[in-house]
Amino acid sequence: THVGAFLRTGSLAARLRQAAASWYIGFFQLPRVPELAWRAGVAGRAIARRERVPRPATRDGLNGLDLYRANISGVRGDGRTDVPTQVLAPTRDRYVTPALAASAAEFVPGLRFREVAGGHWLPRERPDVVARCVREHISASPPLPTRESPTSDARVGHPRTRWTGKVVLVTGAASGIGRAVAEGFAQRGARIVAVDRNPTEAPGEGGRAFQVDVTDVAAMEALADEVCAEIGVPDVVVNNAGIAVSGPFLAHSVQDWQDIVDVNLMGVVHGCRIFAARMRDRGEGGHLVNVASAAAFTPTTFLPAYCTTKSAVLMLSECLRAELAPDDIGVTALCPGFLPTGIAASARFVGVDDPAERQRSTDRLLKRRPYPLRKVAAAVITAVERNRPVQLVTVESRAAYAVSKLAPGVLRRIARTPVPNL
Ligand SMILES: NC(=O)c1ccc[n+]([C@@H]2O[C@H](COP(=O)([O-])OP(=O)(O)OC[C@H]3O[C@@H](n4cnc5c(N)ncnc54)[C@H](O)[C@@H]3O)[C@@H](O)[C@H]2O)c1
Repeated sequence: THVGAFLRTGSLAARLRQAAASWYIGFFQLPRVPELAWRAGVAGRAIARRERVPRPATRDGLNGLDLYRANISGVRGDGRTDVPTQVLAPTRDRYVTPALAASAAEFVPGLRFREVAGGHWLPRERPDVVARCVREHISASPPLPTRESPTSDARVGHPRTRWTGKVVLVTGAASGIGRAVAEGFAQRGARIVAVDRNPTEAPGEGGRAFQVDVTDVAAMEALADEVCAEIGVPDVVVNNAGIAVSGPFLAHSVQDWQDIVDVNLMGVVHGCRIFAARMRDRGEGGHLVNVASAAAFTPTTFLPAYCTTKSAVLMLSECLRAELAPDDIGVTALCPGFLPTGIAASARFVGVDDPAERQRSTDRLLKRRPYPLRKVAAAVITAVERNRPVQLVTVESRAAYAVSKLAPGVLRRIARTPVPNL
């Protein structure tokens, strides 16, 4: 019934994908041949080789054939149920596409649908994750919904948007890009964990705000423990908190370097390390967004430490993306150009006669950039949805990225041009 509904309502592409994945169901309908394949050991060996799992027992295989045949031919009733039901949809399942798994929602009010990193043999691959999902489903609080009392917890129930009820943690959320990104996810229904060293608030419903400095490893660990226990493992972590030091390299002190590396690089490292480990243990995938900058690939004489930390964040993101891909954890490096935020107002200006005046003038200049920060939030959300490795924002960022790949000498020449007032 459920497959029938999917075939009636699913998109053509989704139906074709599922049809290609379901070839074996036709094979199971043949008389005697499938039984022979199991008894001769061919089916068990083929599954073990193809799926990299221990060889299934012949008896299980034969029972499975009976089950498939009964399911295909003997369904009675309309297939609906009020029994609280959870579907675990492995993201790398070769036989059941997530679209088919999600279509069960039509038959179950408040279906609990969860994508889980893994393949078709998930119960063998990650029994810990399956057991935890079952435990959570059984003891779900508030009680699982019925037709009479639909749930208000968006994690339980058919997703209204992809982001409804997801947990998104943003560092540096009190101002600028961080605040805009938190608001963008909140508008799409996500629960926000807003983190900043300054007091802040979590936009939207069901979120929490924390005053934490990203350079404080113990505080970040405690934050992760509290968030994961009380709200849930974040589905997305945006490592955005950052500062700037502006001036020539030879005017930077050791402390200037230490401070900017601590926030811009080590803050991102802590966020990735602490939360990626929890995402991986949870086994339901996730996404890290690391805020780098167009400065990551644009050499300058006025932001040497800043450019260096941002370049490191870009490379860290690339390395991590490769490492975390098998766990369905995506990583995006965000590379904006100039944006009207508070970064200049808190930047340190070194090697100038009047740092306070330079700070004010740079702040005024930056804030004149007519670029709505909600566009940055939209870009971040699209980058996560499409799992993009690098997300460029603003025209100068796109141009500099292209030139850095095609003609880096041009950027080197531009870097030598004196830039007044920055
Ligand atoms: N504004 C731009 O032109 C631009 C361009 C490219 C990249 N970026 C990057 O975007 C990110 C956000 O900056 P923004 O422009 O929105 O600046 P912003 O100053 O408006 O916001 C930065 C936020 O991070 C917080 N923060 C700083 N250090 C912190 C710490 N140690 N722990 C916790 N929170 C901390 C600040 O309190 C502030 O709320 C930064 O990483 C920045 O380098 C900014």
